[in-house]
Amino acid sequence: MDLSRLGGVTPPSITLTGKQQAVVDSDEKAILVNAVAGSGKTATLMSLARNYTNGLYLAFNKAIVTDVLDKLPVGWSCKTFNSMGLAISKEYMPNVRVDFNKYKQARFNNAVNLAQHHMSMNGNDSPESWAKTADRFTISRTYCGEAYDILKNGKANVTKISGEDMLQYPIDNGWKTKHYDIVLVDECQDLNPQQIAFLACIPTG
Ligand SMILES: Nc1ncnc2c1ncn2[C@@H]1O[C@H](COP(=O)(O)OP(=O)(O)OP(=O)(O)O)[C@@H](O)[C@H]1O
Ligand SMILES: [Mg+2]
Repeated sequence: MDLSRLGGVTPPSITLTGKQQAVVDSDEKAILVNAVAGSGKTATLMSLARNYTNGLYLAFNKAIVTDVLDKLPVGWSCKTFNSMGLAISKEYMPNVRVDFNKYKQARFNNAVNLAQHHMSMNGNDSPESWAKTADRFTISRTYCGEAYDILKNGKANVTKISGEDMLQYPIDNGWKTKHYDIVLVDECQDLNPQQIAFLACIPTG
């Protein structure tokens, strides 16, 4: 019998360093691991995962999900941010149709881009917040008013859901996923402000 498949986990083949072990043993509510490339961050996460059965590993794309899924212990879920957001949104909007071009169908490209970036920045309705997004993505501030309307009308159109909406609807409405004991995000330097805000939609602990 191949014991390594029991529980879906490859047995540990490395001995963690003191710093890696400290991450695994920490009882802090949130831990940010910041270390140079190849120093063993992913290995630490995988080791940490073995201490939990009801964990969630959030991935940036489907390729990572496929890669990571069979390395995680039984009981773990591995999903993309979008698939988590879509799953919650569908609970509240069962008939919604996925349309990644929902916002692009509007006429003005600069304003559409600004509207989408504003969601990625988790911006709010204030003029200052809109100006900040415009400056950050070097789009003229003159598009802010138009982009505001596009976003407002887009969000109100609940027959369709875009990739950005999948995270934004749960953030705006306080919708929550099921509870997980722990959430792991690898490569979290790549998280945008919207994805960081979305983490609050996942009850843990
Ligand atoms: N304590 C350890 N002892 C021996 N090998 C280790 C240890 N920790 C990690 N490794 C090995 O080092 C290599 C790099 O580790 P890992 O992929 O976890 O690093 P990383 O910090 O996630 O890298 P990256 O920044 O590229 O994502 C892997 O082959 C891993 O198995
Ligand atoms: Mg890594």
